[in-house]
Amino acid sequence: MIPFFNFIGTFYFPFYSNFMFKKIDSSDITFFKSLMGDRCFIDKENLEKYGHDETEDLVYLPEIVLKPQTVEEVSTIMRYAFENSIVVTPSGARTGLSGGSLPIQKGIALSMEKFNKIINIDEDNHQVVTEPGVITQELQDAVKAKGLFYPPDPASKGSCFIGGNVSENSGGPKAVKYGVTKDYVLNLEVVLPNGEIIWTGANVLKNATGYNLTQLIIGSEGTLAIITKIVLRLIPHPTLDLLMLVPFFDAKKACEAVAAIFKAGITPSGLEFMERDALIFTQKFMNDTSVKIDEKHQAHLLIEVDGFDNEVLMKECEKIMLVLDEFQTDEVLFAEDQAQKDNLWKLRRKVGEAVKSQSIYKEEDTVVPRFELPKLLDHVKRIGANYGFKSVCYGHAGDGNLHINILKGELSDDQWDNELPKAIRELFTEVVKLGGTISGEHGIGLVQKQYIDIAFNETGLNLMREIKKVFDPKGILNPGKIFEN
Ligand code: LAC
Ligand code: ZN
Repeated sequence: MIPFFNFIGTFYFPFYSNFMFKKIDSSDITFFKSLMGDRCFIDKENLEKYGHDETEDLVYLPEIVLKPQTVEEVSTIMRYAFENSIVVTPSGARTGLSGGSLPIQKGIALSMEKFNKIINIDEDNHQVVTEPGVITQELQDAVKAKGLFYPPDPASKGSCFIGGNVSENSGGPKAVKYGVTKDYVLNLEVVLPNGEIIWTGANVLKNATGYNLTQLIIGSEGTLAIITKIVLRLIPHPTLDLLMLVPFFDAKKACEAVAAIFKAGITPSGLEFMERDALIFTQKFMNDTSVKIDEKHQAHLLIEVDGFDNEVLMKECEKIMLVLDEFQTDEVLFAEDQAQKDNLWKLRRKVGEAVKSQSIYKEEDTVVPRFELPKLLDHVKRIGANYGFKSVCYGHAGDGNLHINILKGELSDDQWDNELPKAIRELFTEVVKLGGTISGEHGIGLVQKQYIDIAFNETGLNLMREIKKVFDPKGILNPGKIFEN
């Protein structure tokens, strides 16, 4: 292919396609074996394992799996891949929900699981330096042991990697009070597609030095660089929390109550919405009967407040109860002890898995300004009725972030494959009209890229394509994600 000049004078390839990429051959395998010995794999079991994540039932096998353990190894692999035009797809714990780690163009699956060390918990500066393959929950526990808090807590926190969280800009229930991953990352060590190693920022809380490369890498879904070290800021860990589960007779009223709680001056540390079926499926899935769901309960809000002073928290709960009076609730369940709190949070965290166990599904990750949540729910149900699909909604209501699981149920393959994308397009169009966007925390990856034109016009998308080309002129790093290259 002949490169040509674009309007700003740099040369680029007009598009990337798989014929530009080299297949892995025996000389490549010999090279990787000499570099990494038994940390390179071409057996069926490993190729299958690294060929899927938690996105639907999608499987795309890589040609080889590499498990580097130093930044120098990652750099050597990338230099080699760059020189030889071999595709590389970074892989974390593969808990993603938009297909970001699927090796859709084969090539190398670059697993970061050996980067599993917390390098330094800096108590003097309230920071932690970590490798990307550390499980998020383990990182949280390690800093908690020192009285410190790393809040972002995706539902998969017990198995996902912090590097994956950075790549997808993950959120979770605590985001409503404490923010998402991007609000904690201070600095990143990354390997560029050509093998060069850089730090993107500095280990400081303020930084007005040049373009913000750190924030550019966060949420870039492994398309711009490989993350090899992460510096996070930490905060003091709250010592107390109170949790309540609130049943509503009307799901829309539950959504309306959300903004009203904030307008009363409260910022809960969790404000989660679960539609009736979300909770019923989850109880069944977990064989749990701890929550009695009356047939008149259409939805629940799980509301947590946290802090350091019990009296303050009690007052916040009283205020919340006053607000709730206006929204037709049934008897509120206050968690009495830690075990009950843990169980309620476990139920909430398992909703995604439970709903998926019901049927073939598609998962949408809509987000709107929180006051618009009732309208969003209306649109979901109206469009569902028009197209004949059933949906189960749940998620981070305080953030206006509604997860919508669409169940295949009785829909024909034709309806599923050809009609549903039209319904999703209609829904996303309404989301954007409400001031929202098409993914709050799961990313675009592979499965949402056909809709990204709803969120960005061609000018915006072209800027992203140009940025991708500056980082990755050969398009070898995780091609075909976020937008068509
Ligand atoms: C959750 C995941 C699906 O909130 O984001 O459960
Ligand atoms: Zn979520």
